[in-house]
Amino acid sequence: MKRDFLTLLDYSSAEIRELIDLAAEVKLTRSSDDLRTDLKGKSVVLIFDKPSLRTKLTFETGIYELGGNAMTMADSNGRLGARESIADIAHNLERWVHMIVVRTFGHSIIEDLAKYANVPVINALTDSFHPCQSLALGLTLREKFGDKKITLTYLGDGNNVCVSHMNYAAKMGYHFVAATPKGYEIPAKFLEGAQAEALKNGGSVTALYDPFEAVKNADLVYTDVWASMGQESEAAARHAIFMPYQVNSKIMEVAPKGALFSHCLPAHRGDEVTDDVIDSAVSVVFDEAENRLHAHKAVMIYLMNQGKK
Ligand code: CP
Ligand code: NVA
Repeated sequence: MKRDFLTLLDYSSAEIRELIDLAAEVKLTRSSDDLRTDLKGKSVVLIFDKPSLRTKLTFETGIYELGGNAMTMADSNGRLGARESIADIAHNLERWVHMIVVRTFGHSIIEDLAKYANVPVINALTDSFHPCQSLALGLTLREKFGDKKITLTYLGDGNNVCVSHMNYAAKMGYHFVAATPKGYEIPAKFLEGAQAEALKNGGSVTALYDPFEAVKNADLVYTDVWASMGQESEAAARHAIFMPYQVNSKIMEVAPKGALFSHCLPAHRGDEVTDDVIDSAVSVVFDEAENRLHAHKAVMIYLMNQGKK
């Protein structure tokens, strides 16, 4: 049975730990002579309906380093599903390639693609989830905190990155605290699911409005852009609403001493984070960006080897 990587909800805590272990292992052995060849003779197509720097280049690099062939499609065919049906696209792709990586808008688009294609589909970000980012954060957290059951605090919009990080934290039994403005909360169905999952694993998920309250016990403070890709027309209106959630030195002073900071990037400096925080010694943004590469290699290795054990 082929497996996809659409959200962390489809993976058990043990499987997610296995993915992080694998990411750590490929990171460690990256420059050794004994490189992996899990994608030797195989092609992977990357489809981007939205812009990307990190995701595109780390998948392409990862595919190359695993011996495979990466083909990237961006823009020229319009949005996925506009020129032909998602089912027809899936039935074409599965005849040529061994894996599909997609960044798109509605999450149902990627679910449909995964339903119709008999090769693994990886979510490289949808409006609802960004699970690859959470694996990169997970590896970074492992490197910084080991097995400690940390408190991960998120300030800003309760959307894709926030939801995936919440799911990751819940699976790991961490304490996850989010503070969002009213009207930009984490969708209730995702919040309730994560609260139940966290409880099962000895952690917790708390949703607040007060950013100062939210960072009180933070081991790491996280934020994301205020207007996501596709929401550019709302940027000015959101700016005023989100300003109280800016991660600046005042917020970091309320967090416990030594609390780290991260961001999925791209950062809008001066909006959701100030230069003095993102450029400070507590910022791990580029460690997390580096770990995108290793996390993506781990997911691809894992999916390519499904059923082989
Ligand atoms: N964080 C992230 O997904 O970056 P890109 O949009 O550049 O891929
Ligand atoms: N929430 C952001 C994440 C970018 C990596 C977006 O969807 O644009």
